[in-house]
Amino acid sequence: MRHFTSVNDLQDLDGALKLAFELKKDPYKYQNLGKNKTLLLVFFNSSLRTRLSTQKAGLNLGMNVIVFDINEGGWKLETELGVIMDGDKPEHIREAVPVIGQYCDIIGVRSFARFENKEDDYQEKILNQFIDYSGVPVVSLEAATRHPLQSFADHMTIEEYKTKPRPKVVLSWAPHPRALPQAVPNSFVEWMRAADYELVVTHPEGYELAPEFMGDLKPEYDQMKAFEGADFIYAKNWAAVGDYGKILSKDRSWTVSERQMAVTNNAKFMHCLPVRRNMIVADEVIDGPNSIVIPEAGNRLYSAQAVLKMILDELK
Ligand code: CP
Repeated sequence: MRHFTSVNDLQDLDGALKLAFELKKDPYKYQNLGKNKTLLLVFFNSSLRTRLSTQKAGLNLGMNVIVFDINEGGWKLETELGVIMDGDKPEHIREAVPVIGQYCDIIGVRSFARFENKEDDYQEKILNQFIDYSGVPVVSLEAATRHPLQSFADHMTIEEYKTKPRPKVVLSWAPHPRALPQAVPNSFVEWMRAADYELVVTHPEGYELAPEFMGDLKPEYDQMKAFEGADFIYAKNWAAVGDYGKILSKDRSWTVSERQMAVTNNAKFMHCLPVRRNMIVADEVIDGPNSIVIPEAGNRLYSAQAVLKMILDELK
C-alpha cells in the first residue's frame, strides 16, 4: 500500500485487522522499522485523538515525527490554480506540498470539507494535491469525504465487543448546533459494508448520504424501528448532502437516550468523539455501562500504527 485514504486502499482487510490486533498486543514489536524515517503530520483543522494517536503510532514504530499546524505556523495557502496572487495568501499549495515532501518519508494530512463547493470537497482537491505533488506516501487523517483511520478503529472495536458473527450495526444521525462534514458517516458506511456487518443507516429525510457510499443500502427514516434489536449504535451528526452543507433539522428527539437504547439488543454505544452531550447523546447513555467510546478512541493508536507499518513495509 502506498497511500491510505479509504478502506479500498487495503489489499486485505482481514489481514489489516489482524495486524492492528497484533500491534495492540505488542506495540513495540516493530520499533526499529521506522528508524531514520520521518512522519510529518499536517493539520489544516483541529484534532485531539488523530493528532496524539498518529504521533504515538509513528513513535512506536521508531519514526521521527513532526506535527505541523499549517494555519498557525505556516503561510496562508492559495489552493486555486490560475489566480493572480495579489491577496492575503503568499504561498501556493503547488509549492508548499512538494516542499513538505522534501522533509519526510510519509505525510499525514487532515483537511476537512470546506462546504464552499460540493464538487471541490467530493473531489478531495486538497488531499489529492498532497498525493499528486508531495512525492511521498500520504495518509488521510480525515479528508473532506472520509475518515478512514477512525473507521478502521471502529471496525476493531466492533470486532472486540461483538457477541455474534454478524452483528446489527446502526448508524444514527443526531442533532448538532453546527454543520458538520459527512466524512465520518461516509467512511463508516463504506467500511461497515466492506466488513459485511448487518448495517442500518437512520436519519431524518433530507440527510441522505451520497450514493457512492450507500450503494444499494436504503435509509430507515424511523429511528426507533432502526434501533430494534441493534447490537451497536453509532451516533453522528452530519450536514445535508443534497442541500450541501445545510442544517435541515435540530430535532432533539433524535438525541440518543435510554428511550431508543431500550429497544436494542443491549447495544453498545459508539461515537468518534468529540461529542456534544445531550445533543448527540444523553449523559445516561455515554456514561452508562454500554458506552465504549473510550476504548474506541484507544483503538485509534493501533489503526494508525497498522497503516504506517504497511506503508513502511513498502518503503523498505
Ligand atoms: N475522532 C477524531 O478524529 O478526533 P479528533 O478530531 O480529535 O482527531
